[in-house]
Amino acid sequence: MRTDTAPTISRHDYQPYPYRLPQVKLSFDLDPARTRVHAQLVFESASAGWQPLVLNGQDLELESVAIDGRPLRADEYVLQAETLTLHPRADRYTVDIVSVCKPEQNSSLMGLYVSGSQLFTQCEAEGFRRITWFPDRPDVMSQYQVVLRADKQKYPLLLSNGNLLEQRDLPDGRHEARWEDPHPKPCYLFAVVAGDFDCREEQARTQSGRPALLQVYSDRGSGGKTLWALECLRRSLEWDERRFGLELDLDRFMIVAARDFNMGAMENKGLNVFNSSYVLADKDTATDAAYRAIEAVIGHEYFHNWTGNRVTCRDWFQLSLKEGLTVFRDQEFSADMLAQGLSGAEAASARAVKRIDDVSTLRIAQFPEDAGPMAHPIRPESYQEIGNFYTATVYEKGAEVIRMQHTLLGEEGFRAGLEEYFRRHDGQAVTCDDFVDAMESVYVQKHPGKNLGVFRRWYAQAGTPRVAVDLRYDADAHACAVTLTQRCDPVGIEKLQDPPAEKPPLHIPFALGMLDRSGAALKPELDGTARDTVLLELREAQQTWTFRNVPERPVLSLLRNFSAPVIVEYERPDTELMLLAGHDTDPFARWEAGQELATRRLLALVGALRQGQDPAADTALVETWRRLLGDAALTPAYKARVLSLPAEKELLEKTSPMDPLGVVQARRQLRAQLGAALAPEWLSAYHSAQDAGDYSPDPLSAGLRSLKNLALSMLMAGAHPQAETLALEQYYGAGNMTARMGALSALVNHSKSPECAQALSHFYEQWQHDPLVMDKWFALQATAPGTTVETVRALMLHPAFSLRNPNRARSLIFQFCMNNLEGVHHADGYAFWAEQVIALDELNPEIAARLARAFDNWARFAEPQRSALRSALQSIQDREKLSRNVAEIISKALK
Ligand code: ARG
Ligand code: ZN
Repeated sequence: MRTDTAPTISRHDYQPYPYRLPQVKLSFDLDPARTRVHAQLVFESASAGWQPLVLNGQDLELESVAIDGRPLRADEYVLQAETLTLHPRADRYTVDIVSVCKPEQNSSLMGLYVSGSQLFTQCEAEGFRRITWFPDRPDVMSQYQVVLRADKQKYPLLLSNGNLLEQRDLPDGRHEARWEDPHPKPCYLFAVVAGDFDCREEQARTQSGRPALLQVYSDRGSGGKTLWALECLRRSLEWDERRFGLELDLDRFMIVAARDFNMGAMENKGLNVFNSSYVLADKDTATDAAYRAIEAVIGHEYFHNWTGNRVTCRDWFQLSLKEGLTVFRDQEFSADMLAQGLSGAEAASARAVKRIDDVSTLRIAQFPEDAGPMAHPIRPESYQEIGNFYTATVYEKGAEVIRMQHTLLGEEGFRAGLEEYFRRHDGQAVTCDDFVDAMESVYVQKHPGKNLGVFRRWYAQAGTPRVAVDLRYDADAHACAVTLTQRCDPVGIEKLQDPPAEKPPLHIPFALGMLDRSGAALKPELDGTARDTVLLELREAQQTWTFRNVPERPVLSLLRNFSAPVIVEYERPDTELMLLAGHDTDPFARWEAGQELATRRLLALVGALRQGQDPAADTALVETWRRLLGDAALTPAYKARVLSLPAEKELLEKTSPMDPLGVVQARRQLRAQLGAALAPEWLSAYHSAQDAGDYSPDPLSAGLRSLKNLALSMLMAGAHPQAETLALEQYYGAGNMTARMGALSALVNHSKSPECAQALSHFYEQWQHDPLVMDKWFALQATAPGTTVETVRALMLHPAFSLRNPNRARSLIFQFCMNNLEGVHHADGYAFWAEQVIALDELNPEIAARLARAFDNWARFAEPQRSALRSALQSIQDREKLSRNVAEIISKALK
C-alpha cells in the first residue's frame, strides 16, 4: 500500500516568477546515450529583494553550475530530486549550467528522446525540465539561441525553432547548426529534431506578401505521403488570414513526423512535431477519415501559432485558453473546408456533418468524463499531474465554451473580440478571464446593460448541465410559452462535499425552432420579430418565453446546431421525432431526432434483453430509416451520419446501472433488424454510391464511400446472402484504403468464414511494412467480436507489437480495453487491463495514465463487474511504485 501522495497544486496558489529570463542560449552535444546541454541563462530580478532562484529538473546529471562565470561549490546550491536552488546576490546575473540527459533511456517520450534513429523533443507541459534545469513554467518567456552539434552522417538534419543562422562541419565527422528564434516564448514551445528525413517544401506568400517556406519532414522513404499534409498547411495559412485576419509571423514553418509520439502533435514555435499518423497519407494507406484528421490536426497546430504561441497561458490551469480556442478554430476550419464552394442549405448540411462528428466525440469522450471521478471544469481547480489534464473537457468542452461565445456574439462580434484579445495581450502569458474580458468588451456593446458575468461560470463548473423543456400552447391566443429549467448535479469530488457544492445557473444559449404537424417550418414571433431559429439566452434556473403567431401546437426543434454542451430533457411522442427526422430544416437537429428515436429503441432493447424478452421488430424506426435512405435531397455524407446508430459508448452512458453487454447485444440486434428489413434499400444505396475514377479525398467522394461502406456493413449485419461476396469483391478490388478498410471491417465484424480470415492475412502480407497500416490491422482485431484477452495476448507476441510505441499500444491494448466492451468486461479482461497499466507505467506514465482511465466509471456498473473493477483498480493502487500520473488517476477513481 502506498502512502506517499504527490502534492496537489491549486489554481489559487499562483505566484508570479520572481525573475525575468529575457535571453536563453542552449548548446547541445547530441548523442542518444548521453547528450550534454550547456544552458546560459540571463536572469533579471522582477521583484523586490534577492529571491532564491528555483529551477526545475528531472532525470538530469549536473556537471557544473556557475553564476556570472564563477563556478559554484556544492555548498552554494541545493540540488533536490526535481529542483536546483541557487542564491544569487544581484539584480541581473548569468547562470551557466552544464548537464547530461539520456535520450536512449527516456521511454516517457517527454523531454529529449529517441524514435527510430532520430531524436525529438516534447516539452509541453513539463518536459523541458528533462533537458536542462530551468524555470519550467509558461509565464517565463525568453528569446532562444540554440547550437546543435551531432554526428553528421547519422543526424544530417539539425532543426530547432526560428531561423537557421549557420551550419558548418566540425572535426570527427560532426557538424553544427545555429538557430535563433526572434519570438520570445515559454520553454514548452521549444523543440529540437535531429536525424535523417525526407523533406517536401513549398514557398508560400502571406497576405501582406511576406515569403514563408513551408516544409514537411518525414522518415526517409515516406516523402511520397506528405503531399496532403503540405496542402493542408497551406490551406491553414490562407484560412487564418481570411477568416480571422491572422498572418504567419515566421519565415519558415516546419512540420516533422515522429513515429513515436504521445499525443497528436505539438505546436512548437515554427517547428511542429507531429505523430506520423497525422502527417502521412496516400490513397493506398490512409482512409478518408485519416485525411480529414490530418487536415484538422495540421490546422490545429498551425492555428496555435496565434492562439497559444503569440498569446500563451499564464499557468497550466489556463490550458483551455489555448486548447479550447484552438480546437474551436480547427473545427471551423474543417467545416469551412467541407462547405467550400457551397452555399445556403447545401453549405449548412456540409458543415453539419462536421458538427455531428464533433458532438458525437463530445458525447463519447467528454460527457462520461464530466460525470466521473476525473470531472473538472474546463479550467481545473487543482491537479497533481498536469499531464492528466489534456482532457476531452479542456479540449472539446473548452471548444464548446468558445463556440457559445461565438454564438452569443455572432461571427463579426467574435472576430472583433478576438482582435481585441490580440490588441491587449499579444506577446503575453494570460488567463481565461483575460479572454472573456476581451469578448465581453464587444458583448456589452451589443447588449446594453448585460455582461458575461454568468457566462464565466462555464470556466468554473464541472458536470454536464441538463435543460428541461416545457411547452404550453394557448390555442385561442395562437401563443405558446416555452419554459427552460436548468440543473447541474454534483459530480466527481463534489459528491463528497458537505455541504453540497453550489452550482449556480449558467448562461446557456439555446437555439430553438418550430415545425407544424406537416413538417413545415413555423416562424414564431418573439419580441415582435419572426424568426426561423430563435436564440434564447437562459441565465437563470428557470425562464419562460412567450411566442406569438403560432397557429397550432408546434413541434419543437431543440438545441439547434447543438448551441450548448448540455443534455436536453423533453418528453414527447416518437411521432414528433419521426417528423423532425424527416423535415427539420436544421440539419443537426434533424440528425439528432433520428438519433433520439434510435436511442429510445436501443434502450428499450437493453431493458428487454435484461428481462430475457425478445421484443418485436420496431416499425417506427425502420420506416424512418427507410425514408431517410430514400431521400434524394440528402448528401451521401450526411446520410451516412443520419443512418448510423448511436455509438455503444454513448448508449452505455444512458444505462443505469451501466450494462455494457446489453448495449452491445441491443445494438447488434437492431443493426441486424435494420439491415434485414431494409435490405433492398441498402443494396441499391450500395450500388448507387459509386465514387468515380481516381481517388480524391474531397468531401463528396468521401461521402459516397462512407455511405457505401455503411450500406455494406448493414447488409452484412442483416446477413444478406450476397453481402459477403460483395465485401470480398470490394476488399480485393479496392483502389484505396477507405474502400479496403470498409470491406475488411465489415467482414471481420460480421463473418467467421475462412475467406474473411484469408482477407485479414492478405492485408497483413500486403501492408506489414507500413506501421500506420499495421496499427489498423491490430485495431481491427482488437475490437472484433469474439476477441478475448487470449486473442490480444497472442497479438502482443506478434513481432510487430511493441508496448513502447504509443500508436501500437493504442491500436491493440487501448482499443481492446476501451472499445471492445464485450471482450473486456469480464474479470480476466479487467485483470489484463490492470496488468497493462502497470507495464506501461514503467515505460511511459502519460500513456499509462490514459489507459488507467478506461474504467473511471466503475462505480456505475452492476455486480459482478463493479466489484471486479474495484479490485482491479485496487491492484494497481497496491503497487509499490506508481508514477504521479497513474497514482492521481487511480486514487481519484477509488475515492
Ligand atoms: N499542445 C498540444 C496540442 O494540443 C498537446 C501537447 C500535449 N502534450 C503532452 N505531452 N501532454 O496540440
Ligand atoms: Zn492544441
